[in-house]
Amino acid sequence: MSLPDPALVVLVGASGSGKSTWAAAHYRAEEVASSDTLRGIVGSGPHDLDASTDAFALLESIVTARLGRRLTTVVDTLGFDPARRLGWLALARAAGLPGVVVVLETPDAECRRRNASRDRPVPASVLAGQLRRSREVAGELDGEGWDVVLRVAAEGAPPVPAVETARAAEHRTASTGVEVLLHVSRFPWGEEPMTWLRDIALAADEAGFAGLSLMDHLIQIPQVGRVWDPIPEPWVALGAIAAQGTSLRLGTLCTPVTFRPPGITAKAAATLSALTGGRAFLGIGAGWWEREHAAFGLPFPSAPERLDELEYSIRAMRALWAPGTKAYASDGVFLPETTCYPRPSAPVQVLVGGGGELRTLRIAAELGDACNLTTSDPAVLRHKVEVLRRHCADVGRDPSEVAVTVLDLPVVGRDRDDVWRRVEALRGRTAAATFAARTHAGTVAEHRDRHARLAALGVSQVFLSTPDLAGPEDVLALAGLTT
Ligand code: CTP
Ligand code: MG
Repeated sequence: MSLPDPALVVLVGASGSGKSTWAAAHYRAEEVASSDTLRGIVGSGPHDLDASTDAFALLESIVTARLGRRLTTVVDTLGFDPARRLGWLALARAAGLPGVVVVLETPDAECRRRNASRDRPVPASVLAGQLRRSREVAGELDGEGWDVVLRVAAEGAPPVPAVETARAAEHRTASTGVEVLLHVSRFPWGEEPMTWLRDIALAADEAGFAGLSLMDHLIQIPQVGRVWDPIPEPWVALGAIAAQGTSLRLGTLCTPVTFRPPGITAKAAATLSALTGGRAFLGIGAGWWEREHAAFGLPFPSAPERLDELEYSIRAMRALWAPGTKAYASDGVFLPETTCYPRPSAPVQVLVGGGGELRTLRIAAELGDACNLTTSDPAVLRHKVEVLRRHCADVGRDPSEVAVTVLDLPVVGRDRDDVWRRVEALRGRTAAATFAARTHAGTVAEHRDRHARLAALGVSQVFLSTPDLAGPEDVLALAGLTT
């Protein structure tokens, strides 16, 4: 860099743009007149705004005295005030010195990052105003008569690479008419839980799944595995998956209302939404397995009470996710305030789990974005959808606002031989034909046809969980179902 010397050098840039750092790298401390330093001399510290008037008076004296002696003077303030800038330039001209402006063109995000890591950050709204103003000032300088306008791009600390967590949710509806999400309920991760989870998530993304859901149980359920098999806390595991840079929507299927108070679940889902740029969903149900409640010291009220709790919880969570912080009192829910930050980055899809016709489907119709049915039997499904639609009519809800989703637990094989090998390995004591029928055992092509039939019944999302999912290659083998 070769700037005229001696000269007047006026710095321009928002807080954290690196003005003081740049000045210190190129000039002696005595050559720099800094409003912050002077606040520290006549006030309690560099951020003592009460000392601003005195500090700026001193700054003017110093600039006048130094320029009068034809000494290089660097003015380290925000540099946003045109009258002050022109005043300093006039002093330089009077002394026969050239005037230089140095604009720190540090990207906004970098200024924010540096600001946030300071002991006394400038409030975000103030910094936002400065960043706006610095763009205006950049345009004003050319007409002011400076000898040199030097624009300094960000230097020093390389920008922190953004983790690719904020990718928007893509619509990934298969040509069968349903969106297919991978549901993970077993975790044969051996010695490397994080590697296994990462590989499953990356494979699900690569295979074109629209999302990934995790089962929420405290002990592995008998339908899936043995009680000593690992079953992770899903919100923690989803946080780890969120960091893998996929486009997957992420959530639980289903979180029992009995595990966590609704506010804690709302907080977890909102945090996941913030971390994923709005790709979080929440499956929620009344809970059913008494044993895990007893084991973990959790109350397990009667079914009607749990359904009351389900209803209450959805109302409370929606209140906490809504804008504003005002008190909420409605339908038996009372919250003295609804201060819950971060807010979800996009609405959290609430899927009400279970097919109970009297209450569960009614709760879904009234409060859900979707009902999640655990059957993919066409006759049963047709009936449940009818019941749901009736409840929608009863509560005055547009049925198109309540999606029908299905937890689908099929055996999927490469070909007929592979299908029957899997049936034989999985059926336990159940007769092979019964097991094959119950799990719709078939090839990818056969399951595609079945999914198309589900779509015709009104199903829009399928949560696919294969009983023998062991690793990423099993996920990739399902890719034919997502396109
Ligand atoms: N910084 C950095 N890399 C740079 C320049 C600055 O990491 N190339 C850091 C500094 O160490 C400091 C912060 O960013 O912690 C702000 O830099 P500073 O020079 O103090 O910014 P100013 O523009 O002087 O900010 P202010 O207006 O608040 O004085
Ligand atoms: Mg500074």
